[in-house]
Amino acid sequence: MTTVTELLLPVEKDLELLLSDLRSLIGAGHPILQAAAEHLFSAGGKRLRPGIVLLISRAIDEKSHLSERHKRLAEITEMIHTASLVHDDVVDQASTRRGVETVHSRFNHRVAVLAGDFLFAQSSWHLANLDNLDVVKLLSRVIMDLADGEIKQGLFRFDSCQTFSTYLEKSYCKTASLIANSCRAAGVLTNLDGSRLDSLYHFGKQIGLAFQVVDDILDFTGNDEQLGKPAVSDLASGYLTAPVLYALEENPKLSEIIQREFSQEGDLEKALDIVYSSKAIELSRTLANNFANEAYDSISWLPESPSKESLLKLPEYVLSRLY
Ligand code: IPE
Ligand code: IPE
Ligand code: MG
Ligand code: MG
Repeated sequence: MTTVTELLLPVEKDLELLLSDLRSLIGAGHPILQAAAEHLFSAGGKRLRPGIVLLISRAIDEKSHLSERHKRLAEITEMIHTASLVHDDVVDQASTRRGVETVHSRFNHRVAVLAGDFLFAQSSWHLANLDNLDVVKLLSRVIMDLADGEIKQGLFRFDSCQTFSTYLEKSYCKTASLIANSCRAAGVLTNLDGSRLDSLYHFGKQIGLAFQVVDDILDFTGNDEQLGKPAVSDLASGYLTAPVLYALEENPKLSEIIQREFSQEGDLEKALDIVYSSKAIELSRTLANNFANEAYDSISWLPESPSKESLLKLPEYVLSRLY
């Protein structure tokens, strides 16, 4: 099994530097907001998104060199991601993240909303300073998509008529857009041609969708400690993800229970039972598999390098989180 540490080995040193740079980048703000941002940065996420940007940046450079602008792009990517998590946890009323208290639990809601805004604002400023209008457009679109994704998710709460297509649109907005557009932006900074940019975007998009489906399965199969965040919480909040959509196709009784928003005693347990005893988890795994395979196929043109090797192992790593 590939671990995330093995996977990111070709850019491990870059990532260590990135984390300390991130801290000094956000260091100039208000002390409370700084403390709130620092709280999550120091809890340590998997650093998957900046890792992917760094791997791609090295893989597309003839000499495997990493420019200052590519490094900054990777930092911006992690900043945007962390900001989205701070806000997502407020919306979800989640108590833990990355194995520690969420920002709003550790501080309060006001601080969490402002800390998320603060990180989005910082990321926009550093983005503008890259002086590349195409990259500004790609990443500002991501920030729009993130907001759009949260709104879409809210609109479809407890709506058992939700389709796979709205679920995947929401997943693109909340998760895949950031990975896809930051992969493309790395190519833009290296002046790659349009078809190469498209394939980097496609790689990021399919990895992002596979990653979200896996996260949605883990919400059903994992535990709080493993995940560093509350498990079995999506369905309880009314978020109908891949496993629930498959279970609904198999057992329409689930629809009634969801529509009444688990208002009767034992409803949530009943709904969970229906999901676990159906083929839903297995079918969701196949769905994640299909996305991951497409990602793998889209970067075969990269020249051979340790970074390419890691990128090729990424789809397998995303799926291996399930086992
Ligand atoms: C969490 O992303 C949000 C989802 C897209 C499911 P990660 O699982 O990559 O979070 P961190 O950065 O490692 O904490
Ligand atoms: C995550 O989707 C992506 C974000 C933009 C926060 P989730 O809502 O599934 O993330 P978790 O499960 O809270 O990490
Ligand atoms: Mg969430
Ligand atoms: Mg989730």
